[in-house]
Order: sequence, then structure tokens, then C-alpha cells
Amino acid sequence: MSSDNQNSRGCWNSRLGFILAAAGSAIGLGNIWRFPYKVGENGGAAFLILYLVCVVLLGLPIMLAELSLGKFTRRNPVGAFQAIKPGGNWKIVGFMGVATGVGILSYYAVMAGYSLGYIVKIICCDGRTFESFAANPAYSILLFVIFTILTALVVRGGIKNGIERWAKILMPILLGLLVILIIRSVTLEGAGEGLAFYFRPDFSKVTGKTLLDALGQAFFSLSLGMGAMITYGSYLPEDASIFSSGCSVALFDTLIAILAGLLIFPALFSAGLQPDEGPSLVFKVLPRIFSSIPAGNIVGAAFFILLSIAALTSTISLLEVATAYFVDEKHWLRKKAVWVISGMVLVLGLPSALSQGIVPWLEDLPIIHTSFLGMMDWIFGNLMLEVGALLLAIFVVHVWKTNNVIGIITGGRPGLKMIEKPFRFLMAFFCPLIIIILLIFLIF
Ligand code: TRP
Repeated sequence: MSSDNQNSRGCWNSRLGFILAAAGSAIGLGNIWRFPYKVGENGGAAFLILYLVCVVLLGLPIMLAELSLGKFTRRNPVGAFQAIKPGGNWKIVGFMGVATGVGILSYYAVMAGYSLGYIVKIICCDGRTFESFAANPAYSILLFVIFTILTALVVRGGIKNGIERWAKILMPILLGLLVILIIRSVTLEGAGEGLAFYFRPDFSKVTGKTLLDALGQAFFSLSLGMGAMITYGSYLPEDASIFSSGCSVALFDTLIAILAGLLIFPALFSAGLQPDEGPSLVFKVLPRIFSSIPAGNIVGAAFFILLSIAALTSTISLLEVATAYFVDEKHWLRKKAVWVISGMVLVLGLPSALSQGIVPWLEDLPIIHTSFLGMMDWIFGNLMLEVGALLLAIFVVHVWKTNNVIGIITGGRPGLKMIEKPFRFLMAFFCPLIIIILLIFLIF
């Protein structure tokens, strides 16, 4: 049965293809935009350390569980829960995942559109600020629509021709560009101060919020909690090792986040700017840095090309989850699924696209005092991911049973026996407990 499914649904061509595609999903605005501004807000190195701890102790086990569930069931998130526990309510968790993916995509594509727009802005050097740039409704919406269509075109191509082929080309380009930019950044005058901020921890700055942000960032950055990794795991070839693939993806993602910090903080301090600029850090501060260094517009354009590439490989995975649901469960043609969902994303994302300085009440919503985009990020990029990861952990331990998961993760390889005990502990106790504590914090 599984080989039939594999043929009709598509499958990764190679292990490397899968790793690049999954790493492509994980690496995105989350690493290059969200991570540095969170580090900046939370005092630097201490946050970096907490984030790394969260990645290893919470991110990795959830990642392995998601990939196993996908590989075993060969389904989208809804179908996967249903395949293990037919007729139950667990498929609602899958639905939540599909909805969360569409929700994240709706504002993520807005930010990704800005990144695309900055390529042109920096080359033309028109000196406009982020505010004036984002405040032009026609331009904001146009960029958002272009980015959504780009995503749709890749996903419409399917697994082998679309996602894998693009990831294979795009990911190595990304890594190369980052390294070149870092060499420039760390050789700037005054870069040492930035390196000290980034690598010398000051634990007196750690608060409850630091921990919350570190944990949320780990989930968001690894694309966990909404079934993206269930879906990607479902295209894994039979003989692929979940453990080594999962570890490679987590490692690759974390490496890129660390590199992004290495790019941004030295340049930031060298320009005498403050690290706690907030969500607009990348968009507001970097163009100023680029304009103050030689060949800045070339460096800057390269950076925003890099950011757009990273964002595209992430939006692909967000759209793929909902697409796989309609293709598998509703038997829609891939093409129809892609365009219908993209249409929904465009409608849902419109208020986000208008919330950055265009429609005042969308920019500062009553009661919560954040922008519409900020609210969407909080609900879908934070709350829903935490809830999703928690429910997945409960499902894996109490419904599917940890032994079955471990069997899939290790694939019966004797050398992997030692991961059994730690996995059991993390999945059954540590992850649920920490996430519940986090959710209580989030809500109150
Ligand atoms: N991880 C991506 C980033 O860091 C964003 C992303 C893609 C995502 N797919 C996801 C986040 C699924 C949560 C869930 O930019």
C-alpha cells in the first residue's frame, strides 16, 4: 500500500533532496529576521544559549516525532492522525495544523514581500525609509501578491519538480551568500563589540519572557507544531533514517540562525545602532548599515535576495501542508488546491499587508495594542504552534505509543538504541510539562 501511495503522491529523489527541502522550510525569515531581533531584545548571548537548549531538548524530539508520523502514515497532518486513530477527534489537531499553516503564510508572505521590495529599493538607492516604503498600499499589496504567486507556482510543480529542485539550487546559494556577507561584517571597524554582545552571556538579563521567547523561537524556526514536518516526512523514501535526517535539519537551521546573528550584530554595533530595535530590526537598520559601507548597495541587494530565497523555501512548506490535505483527503487536483488556498491566503493576508502604516486602526488594534500582523504572528506563529506541539506529544505518547515512534525513528538500527531512554523522557514528561508552563505564561 505504501509504495502505491508513494508513487501517486510523489517522493523525494534523494536523502540530500529531503534534507535541503526540510532545511529550506526551517530556514527563513524566522532565522534571519525573527532570530536576530529576539536576540537583540533579550540581551544577546544568554538568549542564544537558552535558544540552543530549547532546540535540543524540545525541538529535536518534536521534529523526530513529526517526521516519523509522516513517514509511517504517508499522509498530510489530518490524514496522519486519522490513519493512526480512525474515527477519533485527533484529526482536529491535523485541521488546526492546516489552518495554522494558512494563517502563518498570510502574514509571512507580507514580510517576505517587503524583503523582495528591498532588493529593488537598495539597487535604486532612493533613500526611502521602511515607514514610507511599507506605507504605500499599492506597493505593499503588490509585493505580497507577487510573493504568494511565486510560492504557488513552485508548490504547483509538486514534490520532485517543484520543491526539491528549487531547494537544491537555492539552499547552497543562501549559505554561500551568508558566508561572504559575514566576512564583510566581522571586518568592519568596531565589529568586536557586536561579537561580544552576541557571544558573552549576561545571565542577569534572563527573565521569564526570555525563556518564553527562546522556546517559541525554537518551534517557529524549526517549522514545528503545525504538521509541516509531518507532511515533509510523508515524502521520505522507505529506507531513509529519520534520526540522521532530523538531526541534520535541526543542525542546518540552527547554524543559519547563528550565522545570521554573526552577520547582523557586528555590523549593527559598528554602525553605533541599538540591538533592541524590535521586529523592524532587519528592515529598518540594515539598509542604513549598507548605505554606510563601501559597495553597500551590492551587499544590501545580495542580502535581501538571500532573505527572499530563504523566505520562499519556507512559504513553500506552509502552502504544501494545506495542498497535501486537499490532494490526499479531498482528491483535488494539485493545481486546483494550490490556487484555491493561495486565494484564501491573499484575502486573509490583506489586513496584514495594510497594517504597517497604511490603515491606522490595523496598525494599533484596540485593547491588544499591536498591529494586525503582530496579532497574527502571536496567534498563529506562537500560540497555535505551542498547542499543536503539545497535542502532538500527547498523541504520540498516549495514542500511537512511544514504542512505535521509537521503532520508526531508529529503523531497528542497533546503534540508535541509546536514544530510546532520553526520547521517552523528553516526549512523555519534559516537553509537555515545559509547553504547559509556557502556555500558562503566554495566556496570563
Ligand atoms: N521555519 C520558518 C522560518 O524560520 C517558517 C516556517 C515555515 C514555519 N514553515 C513553518 C513556522 C511551519 C512554523 C511552522 O522562517
